[in-house]
Amino acid sequence: MNRVHASAEPGASVGFALGAAFFAPGVMIPRQLRAMPHFAGDLLEPAMSHGDVLVHVAANKPAAVRKTVERIRNTSSSHWTNRWHISGSRPANRVEGGRSLARNPFHFTEGFGNPGTERESLDRALITSDQNEPQWAVGGSYQVIRIIRFATDLWDKDSVKEQERIVGRQRDGGWLDGTPVDEQPNFGADPEGRLTPLDSHVRLAAPDRRNPPSIVRRSYSYDKGNEDKGIIFSCFQRDLAQGFEATQKRLEEESMAKYLLTTGGGYFFVPPHGDGWINTLN
Ligand code: HEM
Repeated sequence: MNRVHASAEPGASVGFALGAAFFAPGVMIPRQLRAMPHFAGDLLEPAMSHGDVLVHVAANKPAAVRKTVERIRNTSSSHWTNRWHISGSRPANRVEGGRSLARNPFHFTEGFGNPGTERESLDRALITSDQNEPQWAVGGSYQVIRIIRFATDLWDKDSVKEQERIVGRQRDGGWLDGTPVDEQPNFGADPEGRLTPLDSHVRLAAPDRRNPPSIVRRSYSYDKGNEDKGIIFSCFQRDLAQGFEATQKRLEEESMAKYLLTTGGGYFFVPPHGDGWINTLN
């Protein structure tokens, strides 16, 4: 792994995470790590799912990513074979109030619901010693990848107002009840969902504003051509069941579901003290 880190171009960071299949029998594997199950509506392509090791290369310049990936392939080709790969980008990437924001192919800005400080991100994402995990896993994190294809042609037929009611926020992040973007809306004052529909994305993803889901999201847009575009959803958490899985379960009821198809991804574990996830958040 050190040789691979040494392959990074200046300005690029490399994160590693391990799939359940990486671990030999008898090794104390992180308690919740397994192959990602199918969720309602998923159509997982085996050729784009799971894997022993996830290598996540991020940089501000595409050339730095390309060169780093080439070097990693050259350094390690005798040790592993490439099962799948996907390229993504973060259009209009910027940091506001400590949060990294980017525009997705649905024309919405994402990232507002993430923690505003690095400390809060670590608290949501890193495993602590009271979690009944193997000692070596404390300080690590579970990473979930979902390759989610968007029906952008269908979506683009809807008016902006309709799209905003499906997401539950305005395209620029503002709340539908007029609450400023950096404050919490009062969903309790809208019990029937007249302003922010009950089946909107944000209302189902984070219904309790004082107790947000314990995940840190970081997604990239992809475009493979032939109308195959969407996001590479990635999130980090200390507990898979309470983090991604609880949120994904609630999202089964969302009105956005009919525009989405998850075709790949997997569950991985970022070992502690690696240069892992925190660098790839930049
Ligand atoms: C293609 C699929 C998705 C799209 C287009 C999408 C889009 C968005 C947008 C525009 C927001 C509002 C801005 C923000 O806080 O980032 C948001 C928030 C959020 N999303 Fe998603 N998302 C997708 C998938 C998911 C998935 C798979 C999960 C987790 C299972 C998820 C969890 C969340 C959470 C927790 C929030 C924060 C809600 C809040 O604090 O109000 N999203 N998403």
